[in-house]
Amino acid sequence: MKAEKKRLESLHIVFTSAFDGYLHLAPIDWSPQRVLDIGCGTGTWCIEMADSYPGAEVIGVDLKAFQPFLVPPNLSFEIDDVEEEWTWNRSFDYIHARYMAGTICDWPRLIRQCFDNCISGGWVEFQDMDSIYVAHEASVSKEGRILQWLAYSCNINDLSELAIHLDSTFAQWMHGAGFINIHIVKRVLPLDVLAEDLKSEGGLYSETQLHGGPSDMNRESFEDAPGWASGQVDAFIDDIRRDHPSVTLYTVYGQKPIHE
Ligand SMILES: C[S@@+](CC[C@H](N)C(=O)[O-])C[C@H]1O[C@@H](n2cnc3c(N)ncnc32)[C@H](O)[C@@H]1O
Repeated sequence: MKAEKKRLESLHIVFTSAFDGYLHLAPIDWSPQRVLDIGCGTGTWCIEMADSYPGAEVIGVDLKAFQPFLVPPNLSFEIDDVEEEWTWNRSFDYIHARYMAGTICDWPRLIRQCFDNCISGGWVEFQDMDSIYVAHEASVSKEGRILQWLAYSCNINDLSELAIHLDSTFAQWMHGAGFINIHIVKRVLPLDVLAEDLKSEGGLYSETQLHGGPSDMNRESFEDAPGWASGQVDAFIDDIRRDHPSVTLYTVYGQKPIHE
């Protein structure tokens, strides 16, 4: 639990710094009344949001109770399963979910519940990251090498399992639920720069465990694989480092039509 908390705290810094320090990109009103964070984790995003909008009532909901007790007066946490039928009796001006892509079984249903529980003209925003890395300056050979590295690091045989880009899928689901003004904003972060920038944050690179990284390669996975001599592993890792693997973070937000 402690390690998971630390990892989520580091990821909070990754996401907010990637999006220029903003907690959200949806153009919500300066005086939102009610804000909901789905799968709030450690609650750090909620705390910063409650401080930024002292006039709003902020609610964070999660399956697990690992949020702090000392929080701003306008923030409360609830333990619940967001895949069940929602029972809040007042709608929200803004609903947010971050880094939840792999945890929800039925996204279209969840997004419909967001729509039904959002005020007309309100906003919903999903922030996440791609599960594959890209080469900083893309080329077929570089991409191939990075995918091979990822496949070994994650112990996956079928590389197509890694090719998950959910940003446009979120947009389609949101469109299907009835949202309008849907925007996708992406940021590509080179992992080595990320590591360097955030050293002061206690080694975010290894803390976040973004499937390991070029300076923290999963060397054993390669060494155990048949046909890899140790000199070859070193050369491969050097190549990967030169490819500057990067991770893509995205945010997808949309608005419930006014008077819907
Ligand atoms: C990867 S963490 C992300 C936490 C947080 N959103 C953040 O950005 O730091 C996913 C969180 O979603 C919660 N979660 C997963 N499924 C859930 C569900 N069905 N209902 C409520 N919370 C859920 C987990 O307990 C976990 O805290």
